[in-house]
Amino acid sequence: MSDRDPDTSANKGQMPETQTLDWNDGDMPYSREFGDHFYCRTDGRLECGHVFLSGNGLPDRWAQPKSPNGDFLIGELGFGTGLNFCETWRQWKLYRKPDSRLHFMSFELYPMSGQDIDRALSHWPEIKAEREALVAAWPAEPFGIIEIAVDEQTRLSVVCGPALEGVSAAPSGFDAWYLDGFAPSRNPDMWSPELMRTIHHKTAAGGTFGTYAAAGFVRRNLQAAGFIVERRPGFAGKREMLCGRKPG
Ligand SMILES: C[S@@+](CC[C@H](N)C(=O)[O-])C[C@H]1O[C@@H](n2cnc3c(N)ncnc32)[C@H](O)[C@@H]1O
Repeated sequence: MSDRDPDTSANKGQMPETQTLDWNDGDMPYSREFGDHFYCRTDGRLECGHVFLSGNGLPDRWAQPKSPNGDFLIGELGFGTGLNFCETWRQWKLYRKPDSRLHFMSFELYPMSGQDIDRALSHWPEIKAEREALVAAWPAEPFGIIEIAVDEQTRLSVVCGPALEGVSAAPSGFDAWYLDGFAPSRNPDMWSPELMRTIHHKTAAGGTFGTYAAAGFVRRNLQAAGFIVERRPGFAGKREMLCGRKPG
């Protein structure tokens, strides 16, 4: 996410109590507490395709025979506006096989209101149908575990609370991870050694992750957790991003 400034240390080591949004250009949310945007300003939807889908070998992996785990299970750190979910659901509908199922489980400390989700995602006509369905099903007061069966083959769970708690309590067998906290220097809880170890522990053998982040400490935490980490060109001219795989 090209506008994220790795040198700023606001909020380092602590979680803000709330998250106040500013809106740039009318529909681009910005977190005042974390001092960061939710996705890159160039095009967050295309960034999702490059970093999170391609970074995890998707949609190609959806065409392969499914492991005995059952559903294809995606984990996401930071649900935010739901942009990654809506773009993933859009592509899943294009490429899924008739008998396959997707479970998208996201971990979010500060769930947004449906109104704010609607405002942010209205930017993209390409995901209009997904946005409308998500907002229609989104609870008026989001808390706890939000479960939405968005269609017969697709289930969304948003686990509200600190990601470390949520991931620790989640089932094992994740096939792919979208690591999408705010910039590592501003949101260290989302990139900690303990959280990366927990994610690795919950990942199926051969499971993968993708992230826009390229900071050295993030790469080292992922390697120390047990992932084989690869550096790739980032989105929209950003030099690097990371993706990787759990051996097995
Ligand atoms: C970059 S945004 C995620 C953008 C999102 N994936 C989307 O599609 O809009 C980072 C998100 O992480 C959340 N967050 C920050 N610290 C967290 C923590 N410790 N546990 C869980 N969520 C956290 C923020 O509230 C924010 O929604």
